[in-house]
Amino acid sequence: MLSKNVEKALNEQIRIEAESSQVYLSMASWAEVKGLEGISNFMYRHSDEERLHMLKLVKYVNERGGHAHISDLKAPKTDFGTFQKMFQELYEHEIFVSNSINELVHVTLQEKDYATHNFLQWYVSEQIEEEALARTILDKINLIGNDKGGLYLFDRDVQQITVDSAAMDPGA
Ligand code: FEO
Repeated sequence: MLSKNVEKALNEQIRIEAESSQVYLSMASWAEVKGLEGISNFMYRHSDEERLHMLKLVKYVNERGGHAHISDLKAPKTDFGTFQKMFQELYEHEIFVSNSINELVHVTLQEKDYATHNFLQWYVSEQIEEEALARTILDKINLIGNDKGGLYLFDRDVQQITVDSAAMDPGA
């Protein structure tokens, strides 16, 4: 059975994962309209992953005798300026998510909830990989600079970059 504090913190994380999915969906739509097909596909996929992160938490809360709350979400912005700025925002957003997971892990220790602590280790690892992925992408963007051919190749290749491949990239 979850303590009220752990349940509340998990519900907060459910909202954050759901909002992350919306943020990346909005980025996907912006990129699609700009004709950046590869970047758009990458963001659509990332949005789906965040929804899965949310669902995994929903299932866990309900399985442990809590009640997962599906709440209102803050609307993401619709214009991201440039694709460079957009990926910088993605990176900063993932750092925000990592901090929030760390807070959540802290609550489970305070409440001596070792089962939830154990469950959250998957999220801790996932955040390391997601931050690595975002940094790998930002490094590639820096290499391109303002080169149009480079953007063409980046847009084509970013679709192949996954969390797993970035984690194995020695440059990450
Ligand atoms: Fe579910 Fe990208 O954090």
